[in-house]
Amino acid sequence: MAIPPSPESGRGQRVYGWLDERLGLTTVWNTTLARMVPKTNWFYTFGSASMILALLQGITGMLLTIYYVPSPDHAYDSIQYIMNDVTFGWLIRGLHHWGATLLVIVVFLHMLKSYFVGAYKYPREITWLTGGVLLLVVLVMGFSGYLLPWNQKAYWATSVGTAIAGAVPVIGPFLERVLRGGNEIGAVTLARFYGLHIWWVPIIVLAMIGAHLYLVIRIGITAPPERDE
Ligand code: HEM
Repeated sequence: MAIPPSPESGRGQRVYGWLDERLGLTTVWNTTLARMVPKTNWFYTFGSASMILALLQGITGMLLTIYYVPSPDHAYDSIQYIMNDVTFGWLIRGLHHWGATLLVIVVFLHMLKSYFVGAYKYPREITWLTGGVLLLVVLVMGFSGYLLPWNQKAYWATSVGTAIAGAVPVIGPFLERVLRGGNEIGAVTLARFYGLHIWWVPIIVLAMIGAHLYLVIRIGITAPPERDE
């Protein structure tokens, strides 16, 4: 337990001491941010970069929902409105659009680094698995978001993407109908993709990032391999 600050200590310190005794702030700080890590290199920053980009996607995405309208009649116009009339709308959409591409690249680089340092081996197998789910859900985020502007590119890309799902043996046609919400791409597809994009997938992303970080903190990270002399 934290040592209570003496009466001579400043007010800030007394408030901190009061909170620390109840919330264990120092312990949380020591286990999460002040923990010992091996000497690493720049390749080890891709994980934190992925996390910051995911956070940025969350914030810019929430801002976009203020003006975006997920219906075939209004989706395209609402994006035009965001780009041309909303103050800094172009910036928020630009960050979200390019952030998505960058996130996929950075997550992939993070996975490559983890592979090359052998971080998928004992005892980090589950860290690797939660990472694998994260890569998948980041891709689903990108795919579901692509339809939302409801322009020609979005429509045809989703036609092709869902048709590819339709080519899976046995369950393909079922999968395609579930994704499209019918035989054609229309209002139900847009509603489904929007639901996936703002609820289903982000909840999985949050849960997986939580599990991933818990394991990174619990087990610690690998030291970069050294050359045998
Ligand atoms: C949104 C996606 C992801 C986020 C936010 C994320 C975040 C992080 C962070 C902050 C670390 C600790 C620092 C580091 O070693 O880089 C880490 C470690 C790790 N991640 Fe990820 N990660 C993601 C995706 C993935 C993927 C796709 C994989 C592999 C399939 C993966 C596998 C691992 C492994 C094995 C470690 C331990 C690395 C070591 O011990 O050296 N992660 N992750």
